[in-house]
Amino acid sequence: MTPLPQKIFNTGKTDYEAPEILLGSDPGLFDTINKHYPTLWKLYKTLKSQDWDENEFDYAPCNVQFKTCDKSTYDMMVKTLAWQWEADSVAARSIAAVLAPLCTSSEAWAGWVEITRNEIVHAATYSEIVRNSFDNPDDILEEILSVKEAMARLEVVGEAFGDALATSQAYARGDLPNDQRVFDAAYLFVVTLLCMERIQFMASFAVTFGICESTGLFQPIGKAVQKIAQDEFEVHVQYGKEVLKALYKTPRGQAAFANCRDSIVAIINEVVASETAWTEYAFSEGRELTGVTCQMMKDWVYFSATDVITFFALEAEASFPLVRTNPLKYMENWLDMGKIQASNQEEDTAQYKVGVMKRDDEDAVFAVDF
Ligand SMILES: [Fe+2]
Ligand SMILES: [Fe+2]
Repeated sequence: MTPLPQKIFNTGKTDYEAPEILLGSDPGLFDTINKHYPTLWKLYKTLKSQDWDENEFDYAPCNVQFKTCDKSTYDMMVKTLAWQWEADSVAARSIAAVLAPLCTSSEAWAGWVEITRNEIVHAATYSEIVRNSFDNPDDILEEILSVKEAMARLEVVGEAFGDALATSQAYARGDLPNDQRVFDAAYLFVVTLLCMERIQFMASFAVTFGICESTGLFQPIGKAVQKIAQDEFEVHVQYGKEVLKALYKTPRGQAAFANCRDSIVAIINEVVASETAWTEYAFSEGRELTGVTCQMMKDWVYFSATDVITFFALEAEASFPLVRTNPLKYMENWLDMGKIQASNQEEDTAQYKVGVMKRDDEDAVFAVDF
């Protein structure tokens, strides 16, 4: 009998009691007996239990509203949908693809597959919104793909995802060994995904909900995007943070943080720069949103980014103003923000802050104490 290939089923697996999330011993039995990452498992179960369908909402009333609303509202809505559709298409394709060769924990893999499945619902939702809201969806598809600014907005994340995919595939082919370099690429992928979900998605949701609030139009779209926002805010973002916290408890995770420190700072700062550039574009050419100024929307980007940079205890290197109070009160009507903020204060920030970080470029070891 030919033995099963090790990457398919590892008969010699020895680390059932302490499987690594990334690049541990190749997986064998799918294991729910040893619960090594109970929080990840709980988030997986939560997401699975709140599964929904892109056709739960009747988008038909939006068709006439797109025809009759003013140009400024139309443009802002279409440009935002364009980016959201693109970004969730990227998420739906990349998460499982990048992590499949690298993830070696049953619990973590279950979570990432469920999140990928959920991203497919999100991407399909935007697609259904377009299919139902316009008489000629093909024209709008072209219009959406031609919004260069929306594509540019995905550049930073896209580049990092591309690097991670190339590394992951080289590792899967056996061209790269299981070493810290591959681990760092996987780590940075998780960081970048968190930046996209916590900073960029939240920025786009604020525009959608702002339009729904100020015009009273597009309510079915608002309701669907609210579901997406809840999935992202309450599960995906928390999942990313939990993974990063668990990784930080391991020697490889700590080394990855030290090695990737400058890249993490650069990615957060670059994502913020591209989001604020987008915000300025969204509010240019006469487009406006009743009750929301361009500055308030930028502060919302800073507010979201402050959460991420604080999580890594890298606030000192933020190239943007730290904003700790929500500048867009209406977002509380759409998201259960208190729930998340409370957990941020209690635990999310603790880990990276109390850690001792050694920088490669300096000899000094300094304890970060807040
Ligand atoms: Fe999504
Ligand atoms: Fe997501």
